[in-house]
Amino acid sequence: GLKKKEVHVLCLGLDNSGKTTIINKLKPSNAQTQDIVPTIGFSIEKFKTSSLSFTVFDMSGQGRYRNLWEHYYKEGQAIIFVIDSSDKLRMVVAKEELDTLLNHPDIKHRRLPILFFANKMDLRDAISSVKVSQLLSLENIKDKPWHICASDALKGEGLQEGVDWLQDQIQ
Ligand code: GTP
Ligand code: MG
Repeated sequence: GLKKKEVHVLCLGLDNSGKTTIINKLKPSNAQTQDIVPTIGFSIEKFKTSSLSFTVFDMSGQGRYRNLWEHYYKEGQAIIFVIDSSDKLRMVVAKEELDTLLNHPDIKHRRLPILFFANKMDLRDAISSVKVSQLLSLENIKDKPWHICASDALKGEGLQEGVDWLQDQIQ
């Protein structure tokens, strides 16, 4: 068949938000791993949709590795930003990291699509995706297309909706 168009995606967000779990679930079931451990540095992963072949830079969200993110900004054609919807204490930290990202010279003036996953919606103390978008002030993002999906990466719920949106933005 036709070769799919290749797209570089950066997967960002705080540690423990579920980035690696989400990327793993987007792979075909025979390529998924069972045991997911905290990412050290970053890991390069691939998954395909109907028309695109995604190469994902799955970055570690741990504080000591967050300074690695910016080295990959230039190559990124889209961003997946993952939030743990149950981690109310660190929502302000997630916002700080998002604001730093959005103000970075390699990101600021580019019309990169940003897909947000308000992840862990299965947890009892998770807040809604509307509330997450309010706490992160997403309405202030005017120069980039963005979209937020509630997700449960363990069950895989909400992931397809997000990736369909991303695919439409890149087409
Ligand atoms: P770093 O690599 O350290 O930046 O973390 P990460 O964002 O890649 O998180 P990871 O995918 O390793 O998931 C962290 C923990 O959250 C794991 O125990 C996952 O099983 C769990 N987890 C991920 N997504 C969900 C979800 O939607 N619901 C619940 N309940 N747990 C989740
Ligand atoms: Mg990880």
